[in-house]
Amino acid sequence: MPQVSMTVNGKAASIAVEARTLLVEYLRDHMRLTGTHVGCDTTQCGACTVHIDGKAVKSCTILAVQCEGAKVTTIEGLAQGDKLHPMQESFKEHHGLQCGFCTPGMVMAGIDIRRRHPNASEETVRHELEGNICRCTGYHNIVKAIMHAKM
Ligand code: FES
Ligand code: FES
Repeated sequence: MPQVSMTVNGKAASIAVEARTLLVEYLRDHMRLTGTHVGCDTTQCGACTVHIDGKAVKSCTILAVQCEGAKVTTIEGLAQGDKLHPMQESFKEHHGLQCGFCTPGMVMAGIDIRRRHPNASEETVRHELEGNICRCTGYHNIVKAIMHAKM
């Protein structure tokens, strides 16, 4: 089995996994970082979104071996101790979640949207969120949270 090494949330990881192992499996099953969710496994829902070298990627859509040497950030890597990331704060402030299942992916996608569009309009946020599905909220407060995060 290939030894796959990457930096996850600032810490070095090196794990022997089958070559077919998806990044989401590497994170959840081998590192026990279960904040990254699996809602579909077919690249549709976005619940598994993480950052690879600063860019949002659906972790069910990439093999762990493809991330050799990469810097990966998951939802667990955002807060600084008790201090939430501004995007997490904004989701809290704007009630951008109900059951919370989609939330890790929404937060990770939201950060990347604002990185690429610092003053994103509502239209831009809605367009960019096309790949993230929420079955609870109706999206309004998620969009507000992303637009108004103090980043
Ligand atoms: S679990 Fe990856 S997109 Fe749904
Ligand atoms: S808050 Fe339940 S799926 Fe989005």
